[in-house]
Amino acid sequence: METIVRAVAIQAFGDPGGMATIEVAEPQAGPGQVVIETEAIGVGGVDAVIRRGTLGGYGFTTGLIPGSEVAGRVTAVGTDVDQSWLGRRVWAFTGTGGGYAEQALARVGDVVALPHDLSSIDAVTLGSAAPVAHFALTHAHFAPGESVLVRGASGSIGIATVEIAARGGAEAIAVTTSSPQRGNLLRGLGATHVLDRSGAGGPATPQTYDVVIDIVGGPGLPSFIDRLAPNGRMVVVGVVAGMPPTDFGMRLIAGFQQSRSLATFSLDTVPVAARDTVRVEQFAAAARGELHAVVHAVLPLNQAAEAHRKMDAGEVFGRIVLTP
Ligand SMILES: NC(=O)c1ccc[n+]([C@@H]2O[C@H](COP(=O)([O-])OP(=O)(O)OC[C@H]3O[C@@H](n4cnc5c(N)ncnc54)[C@H](OP(=O)(O)O)[C@@H]3O)[C@@H](O)[C@H]2O)c1
Repeated sequence: METIVRAVAIQAFGDPGGMATIEVAEPQAGPGQVVIETEAIGVGGVDAVIRRGTLGGYGFTTGLIPGSEVAGRVTAVGTDVDQSWLGRRVWAFTGTGGGYAEQALARVGDVVALPHDLSSIDAVTLGSAAPVAHFALTHAHFAPGESVLVRGASGSIGIATVEIAARGGAEAIAVTTSSPQRGNLLRGLGATHVLDRSGAGGPATPQTYDVVIDIVGGPGLPSFIDRLAPNGRMVVVGVVAGMPPTDFGMRLIAGFQQSRSLATFSLDTVPVAARDTVRVEQFAAAARGELHAVVHAVLPLNQAAEAHRKMDAGEVFGRIVLTP
C-alpha cells in the first residue's frame, strides 16, 4: 500500500500564502538516488526567488515543492546504490526543489555523511552556504593579510564568508548591513568594520579592499567596484537586490589604471568531489566549534509560509530551518 507523506508546495507563485501543506506519495529511490527522512530543511534565499515567480523562463510550475537542502536519515536507496548508506544520517542537496517534505529524494552524489556531533539543523545552515563562501574567496584569490569587504553579510553565505576570511588571516573585514545590531553580531564572528548598505560609515580606513564578495548585486554594485584597491578582485555570488545596471562594466574601464577585476562565481562550477571535500571539512570544523551555524529560527514544516514572510520582510539573520 502506498505511504503518504506531508510536504509543502507552491500552489500559486507570488506571496508566501501561495504555499500550502499537501500530502504526496512517499518518494521512491530510482537509479543513483536515495530517500531521506528529513530532520531539518534549510530555507534558502533561492527558494524565495522561485516562490515569487520572478524567474520567468526557468520552467518552474505550480505544485513545485521548494527546498534545496535537507539533513536526515537515509531510508531507501536505488538498486545500484551502496546499501551502506541505509540508516546513515546525511546532508543532501536536493536540486531546485523537493526539500520541504517529510521525505526527500537526492542523487547519492549530492549526499554527504554527517559527523555524530553536528546537528541536522546546523548541517542545513552551513551545507550550501559555507562551501559557497570558501570557493568564492578562493575564486577571488584571497590571501592572508588582505582586506575583504562582504556586501550583504547578514545571510548564511555572508556570515560564513566573514568567518572563513577571519580564520584565513584577513587583515580587515568590512561588512555591509542595514542594522547596527547585526553589525555587532558580525563583529563577534570576525568583522572589523561595519558599513551601511551604501558602504558608508565605519572608520575612515580602509576605503578600498583587496577582495569584495558581493551577495547583493542590484543598482548599488558599481559603487562597490570603486571600493576595490589596485589589483582588487570583486566576486559576485548573489543578486538579492536584483540585476546591476547594464553599463556596470564601465566602472572597471573607467578605473583602467587600477587593474581591478570582476568575476561571478557559482558553486555549480566546482567539481562535486572538491565541493564534498570542503563540505566534509567544514562540517567537522563546525562540530569542533570552529565554524558557527547561525540559525535565525526553527519552525515546523507547516509554517514554511511564515518562514518566507520573515525572509521577505528582511527579518532573517542567518538561516531559518524547518523541521517536519
Ligand atoms: N553563487 C552560488 O553558488 C550561490 C549558491 C546559493 C545561493 N546563491 C545566491 O545567494 C543569494 C542568497 O544568499 P544569502 O541567503 O546569504 O543572502 P540573503 O540572506 O538573502 O541576503 C543577504 C543580506 O543582504 C542584505 N540585503 C537584502 N536586500 C538588500 C538590498 N536590496 N540591498 C542591500 N542589501 C540587501 C540583507 O542584510 P541587511 O538587511 O543586514 O543589509 C540580507 O540579509 C541569492 O542571490 C542566491 O541565488 C548563490
